[in-house]
Amino acid sequence: MKLLQDKVLNEGIVLSDQVLKVDSFLNHQMDPVLMKEVGKEFARLFAGEGITKVLTIESSGIAPAIMAALELEVPMIFARKQKSLTLREDIYVEKVYSFTKQQSNDVTVSKKFLFPNDKVLIIDDFLAHGEAALGLARIVEQAGASVAGIGIVIEKSFQSGAQRIKEAGYRVESLVRIASLDGGQVSFVTEDVH
Ligand code: G4P
Ligand code: NA
Ligand code: NA
Repeated sequence: MKLLQDKVLNEGIVLSDQVLKVDSFLNHQMDPVLMKEVGKEFARLFAGEGITKVLTIESSGIAPAIMAALELEVPMIFARKQKSLTLREDIYVEKVYSFTKQQSNDVTVSKKFLFPNDKVLIIDDFLAHGEAALGLARIVEQAGASVAGIGIVIEKSFQSGAQRIKEAGYRVESLVRIASLDGGQVSFVTEDVH
């Protein structure tokens, strides 16, 4: 998505070879006009999949997810992150490890909101090692529902997430794919360069 690539080039700050800061439009201040276009693009990419719900994880996934859900005219659910939980009957729980933060969270969704006939589009802001996306996919599977696909705003293609998601058999669509952040420079995956 050219618009998003331009935003990354103009406003993204390369913090290290591994981390891109985008707090001016996605992770702190949010750009609603850009998010609306992001939502439209996800809706276009996954049109015809019969999606009944959009699922993300708090907090930065919520903006792109609600915009996609608005376009698709389906509900959006955001999974909650909790430190550690005692066993509960009314929620689906998956443990998600963050390589970036080097800690695990219990990720939860109420059983009230996912059903076996649901076709779920999973959305997240970043794809790094895929832990969050795969955790959300396991929650969908726990509910007996199906994963229609995984939509990512910014994929770091030099980390393992996209590969792991494909190996798990899911369709992944990333609006921006970053091949490298080496030397303080953002390089996109070659086939995406306009
Ligand atoms: P993974 O799920 O793909 O394995 O990623 P990881 O655990 O490494 O990511 C942990 C958190 O860091 C996630 O946010 C993720 O969105 C974010 N993240 C990962 N790589 C980058 C990056 O290069 N730049 C930025 N800006 N964020 C990155 P989170 O902790 O869930 O926080 P939030 O959703 O509340 O913002
Ligand atoms: Na984030
Ligand atoms: Na996120």
